[in-house]
Amino acid sequence: MDKQLNLDDIVLIGRTFDEYARMFALDDDLLVSKTILDVASGVSSFCAEANSRGLNVTATDKIYTLSPSQIEQKCKQDLAKVVDQLPNILDLYVWNYFKNVQSLKIHRERAYKTFIDDLKAYGAKRYIPTRYPETEFSDNRFSISLVSHLLFLYENHLDYYFHKMAILELARITSQEIRIFPVVNLKGEQSAFIKPIMQDKDLERFRIRLEKVDYEFLKNGNEMMVIRLID
Ligand SMILES: C[S@@+](CC[C@H](N)C(=O)[O-])C[C@H]1O[C@@H](n2cnc3c(N)ncnc32)[C@H](O)[C@@H]1O
Repeated sequence: MDKQLNLDDIVLIGRTFDEYARMFALDDDLLVSKTILDVASGVSSFCAEANSRGLNVTATDKIYTLSPSQIEQKCKQDLAKVVDQLPNILDLYVWNYFKNVQSLKIHRERAYKTFIDDLKAYGAKRYIPTRYPETEFSDNRFSISLVSHLLFLYENHLDYYFHKMAILELARITSQEIRIFPVVNLKGEQSAFIKPIMQDKDLERFRIRLEKVDYEFLKNGNEMMVIRLID
């Protein structure tokens, strides 16, 4: 049997600002004075940390209809599920950024605790319940959209039509660029949807490229997709 994390559903675990900065090769030019959308942000601390640095980030996820305590309960369970499985599939991952499973667990706990505190403090000012591929945002509401660990990774849970509709909707509400990380599935293989997305006639008005980044936890997961919406 092929090795991979065995997940019944898309998990509720979150990454930090530093991980987002590496996954998406973020710098001040891209972020400062921009409106930034975090797509399927879950329990990531990116929005909290970015706003505390003076950036303008809005977080969106379908779980934001739940209360902070319900979210906390679910993400604790999901993190435990992942941490339990990791010792059996250690060689699917690169242990640089995280030295071992315990340091990953501590990092992920820090991310969700920072998120929960921010959610309690700012609620719907920063955290908007959204079930992609539909959104209620106006055209070009955001400069940049960042999609971490939703598209491509979960190609067994979300079909091609979902991917395409989500990208078209993000292209409607984003003015400059959409960045998607990673471009591999849970086995660390390039997603079967990458080439079809890059060749899709309905997306041919955008400039789509893959770019290496300085972050690799899932082996081979060190590339992002950049969808440039303007020249
Ligand atoms: C693995 S987490 C990634 C969280 C965050 N982006 C990060 O990288 O730390 C995946 C997230 O996708 C969310 N999600 C799954 N399907 C969704 C949908 N159709 N619309 C909005 N959020 C969705 C889940 O609730 C979960 O929070």
